[in-house]
Amino acid sequence: MKMRVPDALHCVLALLFLWMAMVQASGPQRSRAANATAPSAATLAACPKGCGDLRFEYPFGVGGGCFRQPDFELICDHHDKTMPPRLFLHDGTTEVIDDIITPGFGSYNHYQDVDIQFSHVITLKPGLNEYTVPWKAPGRSFSLDTAYFNITGCDFDIYQLDRDLNTGQRLCTVRCPNEQITDLMARESCNGTGCCSIMMEGSDFELKFIRHGVEKDQPPRHKRSTLWNRINVTSWHFGLTWTIADESSCSAALDNMTNYACVSCHSVCMPNNLRSIIGYMCACDEGYAGNAYITDGCHRDKGYNPVQQKSNCTRNCGNISVPFPFGLEEGCFARESFHLKCTDMTSSTLQFGYEGGDRQYITYISISEGHVGFEYTSNYMEPFFRSLVDNEPNLYRGLGQSASVQWAVANLTCQEARLNSSGYACVSVNSICLGVSSTNEYRNVYIGYRCMCKDGFQGNPYIPSGCEDIDECETPGICKGVCHNTIGSHNCTACPRKTEYDFLAMKCTSTKRQSLLLGIVIGLSVGFGILLLIIIAIFLIRRWKLDIKKQLRRKYFKKNQGLLLEQLISSDENASDKTKIFSLAELQKATNNFDHTRIVGRGGHGMVYKGILSDQRVVAIKKSKVTAQIEISQFINEVAILSQINQRNIVKLFGCCLETEVPLLVYDFIPNGSLFGVLHNPNNNSSLSWDDCLRIAIEAAGALSYLHSAASVSIFHRDVKSTNILLDGNYTTKVSDFGASRLVPIDQTHVMTNIQGTFGYLDPEYYHTGILNEKSDVYSFGTVLVELLLRKEPIFTTDSGLKQNLSNYFLWEIREKPLAEIVAAQVLKEATKEEISGVACVAEICLRLRGEERPTMKQVEMKLQHLRLERLRMCELAAKDEDIQPLSTVQSQVGHRSLATAARKVGSSNSSSERSQNCYSLEQEFMSSATLPR
Ligand SMILES: *[C@@H]1O[C@H](CO)[C@@H](O)[C@H](O)[C@H]1NC(C)=O
Ligand SMILES: *[C@@H]1O[C@H](CO)[C@@H](O)[C@H](O)[C@H]1NC(C)=O
Ligand SMILES: *[C@@H]1O[C@H](CO)[C@@H](O)[C@H](O)[C@H]1NC(C)=O
Ligand SMILES: *[C@@H]1O[C@H](CO)[C@@H](O)[C@H](O)[C@H]1NC(C)=O
Ligand SMILES: *[C@@H]1O[C@H](CO)[C@@H](O)[C@H](O)[C@H]1NC(C)=O
Ligand SMILES: *[C@@H]1O[C@H](CO)[C@@H](O)[C@H](O)[C@H]1NC(C)=O
Repeated sequence: MKMRVPDALHCVLALLFLWMAMVQASGPQRSRAANATAPSAATLAACPKGCGDLRFEYPFGVGGGCFRQPDFELICDHHDKTMPPRLFLHDGTTEVIDDIITPGFGSYNHYQDVDIQFSHVITLKPGLNEYTVPWKAPGRSFSLDTAYFNITGCDFDIYQLDRDLNTGQRLCTVRCPNEQITDLMARESCNGTGCCSIMMEGSDFELKFIRHGVEKDQPPRHKRSTLWNRINVTSWHFGLTWTIADESSCSAALDNMTNYACVSCHSVCMPNNLRSIIGYMCACDEGYAGNAYITDGCHRDKGYNPVQQKSNCTRNCGNISVPFPFGLEEGCFARESFHLKCTDMTSSTLQFGYEGGDRQYITYISISEGHVGFEYTSNYMEPFFRSLVDNEPNLYRGLGQSASVQWAVANLTCQEARLNSSGYACVSVNSICLGVSSTNEYRNVYIGYRCMCKDGFQGNPYIPSGCEDIDECETPGICKGVCHNTIGSHNCTACPRKTEYDFLAMKCTSTKRQSLLLGIVIGLSVGFGILLLIIIAIFLIRRWKLDIKKQLRRKYFKKNQGLLLEQLISSDENASDKTKIFSLAELQKATNNFDHTRIVGRGGHGMVYKGILSDQRVVAIKKSKVTAQIEISQFINEVAILSQINQRNIVKLFGCCLETEVPLLVYDFIPNGSLFGVLHNPNNNSSLSWDDCLRIAIEAAGALSYLHSAASVSIFHRDVKSTNILLDGNYTTKVSDFGASRLVPIDQTHVMTNIQGTFGYLDPEYYHTGILNEKSDVYSFGTVLVELLLRKEPIFTTDSGLKQNLSNYFLWEIREKPLAEIVAAQVLKEATKEEISGVACVAEICLRLRGEERPTMKQVEMKLQHLRLERLRMCELAAKDEDIQPLSTVQSQVGHRSLATAARKVGSSNSSSERSQNCYSLEQEFMSSATLPR
């Protein structure tokens, strides 16, 4: 804690004290007082400042009037001219071995000490085993701080005596185990062998040496080194603290200021509270350095020397630049704090020049920011908290851990600095002074001032003309017009006439070019933007479409499969095994993506494509016209029906695809097309013989009969027509197109449905009532039989150009005309009369308006079968008559022969009544069998 008198009051008191001293000079006790005039630089001007290499300051001094009180008188002994002079305290024996100077700036732990040398050699006397060495402080003003001794000798104990208590404390023991040991060897380690180290502290002391043993134990004298002859007590550090002991403490001193020692302005009284030492000390206040014991002894920092710069200074250390006020060589830096060392040019090793400066490496020096960057060389982490250089203020501050510190050029305010123009650092024109303070964790500390170039200037403000104008106009885009650099600034004017500021070129350009350029740029960027947007949009739409397609496929699959499975499970568990589910991709590949050249037919419910599967199977793929849910159910229906049917005259279903809205159906491909195509194609007439016709009719009837009764559930085809009767390579019948078919439980004879079917084949009863039963198929089949007989289309154009329904025409004509006139010429040629009338009869009954009157398909099949058997039997008989011939030619010959006979027969008995009679009996036959259970 410092005791402080307010500066102004303090200085007033000092002056008052001076005045009092002058007044008292005339009094009787003036002798001492008269000589005790306040010391100042002027009154001490004649006093010596040093002795040899050693320096000292007031209150110490050599010679009268140069020291404050007798304790502080020094004696400079240079009577031996061959030796350097030696300095002693007033007692003439205590040698001073270091400078006695007042502490500099920022001395936090303020202490005042005198380093002295103590040496005492005891010459041992035979028979005398106890020796003492006392030490007393040389005057009231002094006390022991610390003292370290290395004591050499042989075989003794060292005690510290306490006279008051009359006790001793053993400090150490010195032994000499062998006689060759020398003074030098012992001193080297000083570990108890021939030497011993002790430390004394705080007050006067007395050492006692007690030798061991007796003469006879010791080596013979002539063999001993000098170590055995004496005890050498020599200090290697001996510090004395000195105080002003006139008063016991600062408070006492301030109470009676007649003899107050701290006479300088900006001085403070410092109690020595380290130990219980009487007296007080004087020190300069913070921010001041110098001698507080003399008037105006405390001064502000005056260490900056702005002009001390040689011409050929090294200004860099490797790649770190070292600008003034920093410097490497003597005469190149402005003050000792800025003295740096470049220890290695090549590796840019730059360090502070003071003692201990090798704890940091300097990494950069910034003049404009006022920073010095550094790195630690060791773990030493707390730099710059005290003055780094003797008598220099602490000009570097920063937090312990940060890698840079702020620096100031002098511990002065800008105002103070400007007063002393010769020590003012900001020498460049256009430079300014700037206060630097640092905030550490405790408080804001003012470090001092530094210099900076004014705004608009750059460079080094510490050298004359160091701050140079910045040409702002070189900064691109600083003006939105024409830039004019001025000293320290710049100004902007608008672009000249007919020019405009071009933001791209960052200068004025002619309006035309500018707008053209701008136009091009805008055009291009807009164009590119739009293009990009379009590309992105297309991409997104494609993705979106693909996604939608995928989703749809998944949705359809789900929906369709659900329906399908429902159907299949309700009918037959095994059915699904036979039916394969194709993927859309597979079918797309098989049909060359549903190419229109692959279309082989347009059914009532959609397109039929020819496809080749990957296993080389040729298939027909039926693709519906997407219309309504009813269509889907028809397809599903068809799958369900066909998947459980295995009849040689019914087209085989391979599988289906469920990934489209309406499932695709995959059939066996039937190469020869439909019966309709073969019958009514004008280009290939007579390709079908009567025999084939009869067989086809039988096969078709068999298939339908199978559907109606043989399968586990009744299936009504609902769309029996010649286009749905297909012919394979061998002209074997394959009934197809089950889209409209209905499954009917076997015990149910009819169902109500929406009317479906094809005109020309449609059962009129079903058409009127909407009640569907198996006889609807029978009606349609009757029309097919008529087609076979007449070789006319179900709706045909008569010679008179009228459109006519074939079945109506047939029924009408047979009442009016003999059959021979109605049936086609080819039939007339090939069939017998019985066959013609038989088939016509079946057709007629099938076409009865009332369903009940129609035969079942089974009956139709059997009747036709019967007719054919008759025919085959006749052929066999004919064959027996003739030579053995291949069957086919026989058949055709039979055909030709029977044609002639048939013609005759038809010709001879062509009355309709006769035929009606025949038909009636057939009808009777059907009716009787119809009552039998199926
Ligand atoms: C006081 O100082 C003067 C010279 O400044 C000297 O002549 C005188 O002897 C001194 N008086 C005493 C008592 O020391
Ligand atoms: C002291 O140092 C000497 C060498 O100077 C060595 O021989 C001796 O062993 C050391 N003694 C002890 C106690 O360490
Ligand atoms: C005592 O020790 C000191 C320090 O080593 C030395 O300088 C001095 O000469 C020694 N004195 C004697 C008499 O040996
Ligand atoms: C005194 O002894 C210590 C070892 O205890 C040694 O470091 C030091 O250098 C010695 N001093 C002198 C002056 O011999
Ligand atoms: C002040 O100190 C001086 C000597 O230093 C002494 O003569 C004087 O009596 C003291 N005055 C008081 C009031 O204690
Ligand atoms: C700088 O110049 C002085 C003389 O002007 C010379 O003595 C000194 O050696 C030079 N120093 C360097 C580093 O060149």
